[in-house]
Amino acid sequence: MEPIKIVDNVYWVGAVDYDIRDFHGYLTPRGSTYNAFLIVDDEITLVDTVKHGFEDELLSRISKVTDPKNITRVISNHAEMDHSGSLPGVMRAVGTEKPVYASALGVKNLNGQFKGEGLNLKTVEKEMKIGKNTLRFLETRMIHWPDSMFTFMPETGILFSQDGFGLHLASVERFDDEVPETLLEKLAINYFANILTPYVPQIAKLLETATDLIKDTKIICPDHGVLWRKDPGGIVSLYSRWVTQKPKKKAVVAFDTMWHSTEYMARELTDRLGSLGVDAVYLNLKHNHRSEVATEAYDAAALLVGSPTINNQMFPSVADLLCYLKSLKMKNKIGAAFGSHGWSGEGAKLVQAELKTMGYNLPVGEVRVQWVPHEDDLVPLKDLAKTVADEIDKVIGA
Ligand SMILES: Cc1cc2nc3c(=O)[nH]c(=O)nc-3n(C[C@H](O)[C@H](O)[C@H](O)COP(=O)(O)O)c2cc1C
Ligand SMILES: [Fe+2]
Ligand SMILES: [Fe+2]
Repeated sequence: MEPIKIVDNVYWVGAVDYDIRDFHGYLTPRGSTYNAFLIVDDEITLVDTVKHGFEDELLSRISKVTDPKNITRVISNHAEMDHSGSLPGVMRAVGTEKPVYASALGVKNLNGQFKGEGLNLKTVEKEMKIGKNTLRFLETRMIHWPDSMFTFMPETGILFSQDGFGLHLASVERFDDEVPETLLEKLAINYFANILTPYVPQIAKLLETATDLIKDTKIICPDHGVLWRKDPGGIVSLYSRWVTQKPKKKAVVAFDTMWHSTEYMARELTDRLGSLGVDAVYLNLKHNHRSEVATEAYDAAALLVGSPTINNQMFPSVADLLCYLKSLKMKNKIGAAFGSHGWSGEGAKLVQAELKTMGYNLPVGEVRVQWVPHEDDLVPLKDLAKTVADEIDKVIGA
């Protein structure tokens, strides 16, 4: 377990989690990393720690640079367990009397997580000297937790951005210039859509107000995935684009089905939308995780959600999707509900009502088909596709 030098006296000493696939309900098909950084200066400083279970990997990498006992202080930028979980174990190796610095809310949250562990938690001031280098702290409240903060090192231009600008990728490569750009953009939007979307207003404000900090940043070191040294401005530009939530001429058709009727409807809708020039993405929830739907939905103008009726309800996987999407608070979406039923037919109606409460613009009420769709049943689906395509054109100004 080797450390990786970022610049002189600053090392990546984190952990690679090749096996994680479910990250609090979000699918991580490529695993992830928990990044931590060691700064060797008069005060030997550890910035962030790793998830519980990865202590040995972190300590092993640190040991190749210095004895962990030589660390004099730890900075905790984010009190979520994928970063803070190992703090008690790490501090036992470092020395529990050594200070762990966090934002005021970080101290509060770490206190709540590690009751009785005897951590020496201290609230950061605006800045601290650690020898030749300085650490400046910027609260980034609700990006994406109340305790979140950035740590900036002006002498090197390194921004330790905790979850901001992160992505989930377990790999031996540590830097953006070692991984294909297209893959990084794909993983970064996946991460943004699933983790950061609810906090778009805060991110937009940060990008607007922290312009000096961004200008002075030469390397962005997030807590997950690659470190952005080739083109830190590139990921910042992508964030500036993504916070606008400007939709594309794209529609996501997401559904589940028991006996294929809702599936026929989904196929018809996808076909129709495609023939009307809309980039239509067909996602059967049996094969696609809720977080994949969220990623595809992020830049789509419309989301069409299909559900059969089961015991007077929508299908459970559809309820799961809607609950998840509701929590992400995506803006500027056209919505539509569809589905097959046998007798009472609540499924699609309930989906429609839920999309409404999520603030989606619903140009058509739900389209329902009783039992198995026949040619005649396809007419309202064709009409729905046409209406949605027209609405998309209005929204994107085509
Ligand atoms: C376990 C079960 C419960 C059902 N409950 C209802 C119901 O409460 N109301 C209703 O209208 N249809 C109900 N149905 C009928 C289905 O909604 C109907 O078969 C529909 O066409 C299924 O669409 P699908 O082929 O997309 O799964 C139920 C079907 C099953 C298998
Ligand atoms: Fe987090
Ligand atoms: Fe994280």
